[in-house]
Amino acid sequence: MKNCVGQVVRGDDFWDRTTELETIWDAIDSGSHILLVAPRRVGKTSIMHKIKDEPKEGYIVIYIDTESADNENEFWHKIFNAMQEEEFVNRLKSKSKKLCERVKNIRIKKVSASGVKFGDGQTLDYLAAFETLVKDLEIDKKLIIMVDEFAQTIENIIKYEDIKNANSLLKAHRALRQNQKVSEKVTFIYAGSIGLESVVSKINSIKIINDLNSIKVLPLSNSEAFKFVSQLCLSTKIELREEVIYHLLNKVEWLIPFYLQLLIQELKILSRENTESLSDASSIDIAIDKALEHRSYFESWHTKLKESFSKEEYLFAKEVLNIISENYTMESSAIINIAAKHSLDEDEAKDMIRTLVYDGYINNNENPKVYRYNSPILRQWWNKNVAN
Ligand SMILES: Nc1ncnc2c1ncn2[C@@H]1O[C@H](COP(=O)(O)OP(=O)(O)OP(=O)(O)O)[C@@H](O)[C@H]1O
Ligand SMILES: [Mg+2]
Repeated sequence: MKNCVGQVVRGDDFWDRTTELETIWDAIDSGSHILLVAPRRVGKTSIMHKIKDEPKEGYIVIYIDTESADNENEFWHKIFNAMQEEEFVNRLKSKSKKLCERVKNIRIKKVSASGVKFGDGQTLDYLAAFETLVKDLEIDKKLIIMVDEFAQTIENIIKYEDIKNANSLLKAHRALRQNQKVSEKVTFIYAGSIGLESVVSKINSIKIINDLNSIKVLPLSNSEAFKFVSQLCLSTKIELREEVIYHLLNKVEWLIPFYLQLLIQELKILSRENTESLSDASSIDIAIDKALEHRSYFESWHTKLKESFSKEEYLFAKEVLNIISENYTMESSAIINIAAKHSLDEDEAKDMIRTLVYDGYINNNENPKVYRYNSPILRQWWNKNVAN
């Protein structure tokens, strides 16, 4: 396992997330459609690739990233393209000859705003076209369609078109999921670096996705993270004493693979500079300081807020995060008190806080009335780069 920092990990570089994968496969087997829920950088896309690269017997998997789709047409374009792509069709060959022939014989000429035009001249709306495509899938093979960054597509449509069109795509997907003929043959898995639930609740449409089975992807447990770091130390050839590893885990606290890899990378650089320094727990603090200099790894936590919310909501969220980054904690009553300053009423402020919790900035796990950062690393970065 190499120490990959930043890109999606695949193959031997993927640290097995057995529990999550078992839960996801159980849900697929039971016929659910799934929403993978986790804040950014926790490892959703890597899990989706694992499912694609090593599917269970009887399933064929397609992965589609729809982040760049700004309207319904572009979205469906991506879906239909993926279902006709050579890579997918070739993979079908080994799994299911009949399905491969079927897909090969369907020629899509054009996906436009008015629907999908097939080679034989008929034009169907997106839903009917999708149903046609999956109609003859062999009954013993089920298709898993993983749509990554779906929430981003919905947010793009809200931003560049309107709420009505965003609702139309959400409703189209619900209709597909509730169409028995489709559901027998297709499982949808949605994920994204922004929370679908928060985007959809902003436009009061949460009920359109209430049929999804939401599965949380959690950070690693302490013991998992210890094993993960030990493995990374072996592969990067650095030596950390057990107590130094525990110190590292304590400091990172929100144990997502990404932060652990980032610190191992910095520790490796330190070790090149000075072999002595890693024996000491203070090397971890130095590595964290160095890690925080990678602006591009953290900046999106700030820019996403700017892009996704109104000016008032953004300024309110920023002030709350600034204060917590300074004081470590903040009471909910104090948060509500500053809402008026940003022209938000209590309900709007509470919605905003829920979004910050859902998207992985803060939590109130220890005490429902007190909020703190999930990640001390993000707290430090925010304090240094946004609050000051
Ligand atoms: N199972 C894993 N094994 C090893 N590294 C991982 C694993 N999962 C995540 N990572 C690390 O975390 C980083 C983020 O992973 P990934 O892109 O899968 O997360 P994500 O939740 O899809 O992020 P985003 O919300 O930004 O799309 C990867 O670049 C990799 O460094
Ligand atoms: Mg991702």
